[in-house]
Amino acid sequence: MKADVLLGLQWGDEGKGKVVDVLTPHYDVVARFQGGPNAGHTLEFEGQKYVLRSIPSGIFQGDKLNIIGGGVVLAPDLFMDEAKELEKSGHQLHSRLHISKKAHLIMPTHRLLDAAYEAAKGKNKVGTTGKGIGPTYSDKTSRNGLRVGDILCDFETKYAAHKARHEQMLRALNYTDYDLTEVEKKWMEGIEYLKQFPLVDTEHEINRLLKDGKRVLCEGAQGTMLDIDFGSYPFVTSSNTICAGACVGLGIGPNKIGEVFGIIKAYCTRVGAGPFPTELFDETGAQIRAIGHEYGAVTGRERRCGWIDLVALRYAIMVSGVTQLILMKSDVLDGFDTIKACTAYQLSDGTITRDFPYDITDGTITPVYTEMPGWQTDLTQFGSEAQFPKAFSEYIAFLEKELETPITIVSVGPDREQTIIRKRK
Ligand code: GDP
Ligand code: IMO
Ligand code: MG
Repeated sequence: MKADVLLGLQWGDEGKGKVVDVLTPHYDVVARFQGGPNAGHTLEFEGQKYVLRSIPSGIFQGDKLNIIGGGVVLAPDLFMDEAKELEKSGHQLHSRLHISKKAHLIMPTHRLLDAAYEAAKGKNKVGTTGKGIGPTYSDKTSRNGLRVGDILCDFETKYAAHKARHEQMLRALNYTDYDLTEVEKKWMEGIEYLKQFPLVDTEHEINRLLKDGKRVLCEGAQGTMLDIDFGSYPFVTSSNTICAGACVGLGIGPNKIGEVFGIIKAYCTRVGAGPFPTELFDETGAQIRAIGHEYGAVTGRERRCGWIDLVALRYAIMVSGVTQLILMKSDVLDGFDTIKACTAYQLSDGTITRDFPYDITDGTITPVYTEMPGWQTDLTQFGSEAQFPKAFSEYIAFLEKELETPITIVSVGPDREQTIIRKRK
């Protein structure tokens, strides 16, 4: 069997959690491969709403195995809160959630370092989620990290050495006004709590499952434009959010990847700082934010809103080899007279390009838009493609043509049921 991969193609919050939940019945295993509690994946069903941070979104559907892979960074205290909350709402996790021994641990001092680095950057700050993601991945690549597997042997000594090193760095940054007593106590409780879960070599497990014919869905976090190598650097997260990240984060060979699902919103959002060529600063942007409830699931921050950016999407599809697109939140545009899509960029020297350039710094790009009539219909009640108004079908056809990739699923509301699977032509 091959593993399918599901990725966000914009700046995150495309609706990955909802779609993973919808697709889970078709799979035996759902595996997260990168990121950490910077993610906020929202699922709605049976009148309930859940936000997942580190736990894969396959946790709610039947008896599926969920895996946190080695590419993930895990904060034991936040993980404990998240898992206990799910158990309180009646969802048993223990035998169904396996954790890679290779996943790196986010220490309380990583979160302090995150804050200290942001403070040091001043007006150039990234606007991180403050969860210690960057410093944890930096420790990993500089070969200083602490891994889940480390908790099984002489952990206190290892922890103390890492903490001492971090505190030295914090002093160098003049960031000394903190008290870790309570946080650390809870963090250590989280370490004990983690030990209740199967801590495994997930690369062996996943490859064995694939060999046994099991169907695996790999769940991405963040989005392509936040990828450490291909995103809008340096305003990115610290992991590989593209398809290759699934290979690295789970130990799956590239030849074992099957379908690559790319999730896109009918418009575009971004939370945190950094360039965003199609951002709207006017009433239309405010309307999209209000109707789409565009506020961060993790930090509650306002999400910046703009029109869909097909230049960035073509690039995202290219770098991940996306085979199918999933279109989310079109219902948010239900009331608009016209809809715009950016099909090309005009660069500061006047050149027009359809290829995503190296530099998209604010002010260097003027989006070239195509404007189309809106559908002015409430899509949220629709259950099949046959009901779509003509203008909406034309919008979908336009996107498929521009992006040279089929749209196979259309989401018309936050609930699990508000999902339309299209027939492949
Ligand atoms: P993720 O991080 O990619 O999983 O996305 P988030 O959960 O952060 O943000 C997506 C938001 O949109 C959540 O609040 C979802 O409940 C909501 N949502 C998902 N699909 C749709 C849709 O088709 N229409 C509307 N109106 N909301 C949706
Ligand atoms: P999901 O999985 C949207 C953004 C932050 C910041 C940058 C770096 O819900 O789509 P970090 O804390 O990772 O060092 O922050 O990345 N960011 C996200 N934006 N959705 C996310 O996750 C994000 N995870 C990180 O806002 O700009
Ligand atoms: Mg999110």
